[in-house]
Amino acid sequence: EINFIVYLIITYLLGSIPFGLIISKLFGKDIRKEGSGNIGATNVTRVLGKKAGLLVLILDMLKGFLPIYIAKYIFDTKLVSLLAIASVIGHCFSIFLKFKGGKGVATAIGVLLALSFKAALIVIMFWLGVFLVSGYVSLASMLSASISWVIINFIENNIYYTYAAFIIGLIIILKHKDNLDRLLKGTEYRFLHK
Ligand code: G3P
Repeated sequence: EINFIVYLIITYLLGSIPFGLIISKLFGKDIRKEGSGNIGATNVTRVLGKKAGLLVLILDMLKGFLPIYIAKYIFDTKLVSLLAIASVIGHCFSIFLKFKGGKGVATAIGVLLALSFKAALIVIMFWLGVFLVSGYVSLASMLSASISWVIINFIENNIYYTYAAFIIGLIIILKHKDNLDRLLKGTEYRFLHK
């Protein structure tokens, strides 16, 4: 039997891997000192281009997806939900970055894909819709984070998954504080329709 605490720590450590920072270092830059200063795929795309951004998006999703997908074969949904939260906490409060980190969106999408593929697809479609209409990545991320618990609740009808999506959504929104300030001031960086 695999010890849950050990699995929890591994999930947190995987979530903590700052792929955005690692990739930017390969380009000879520190992503934390460029653009929005965030380590996520959005800022990597902004600073280093689409290919680097896509790579970070995929890696940050995978580090969330894999441990949760495997955990579903080992633990009950209550424990899987705790692991889901731990993964996103890893990304947002990374042990490798003195507990600073990213905003959790890509990792949360990976986690959500593992928890509920259907719910994740709906959330991704919603995210894309808001992004294409508004042109703002952060607005799409915050609105998606706000509704994901409703969608997973409707699709999976599992209270632990609903709690997990709610708490993950809350973390993501809190991490977008600066983006929210900029959106309200009208100074947020627009990805589309510039
Ligand atoms: O996923 C992060 C995104 O919503 C905002 O990123 O770099 O514009 O703060 P950034």
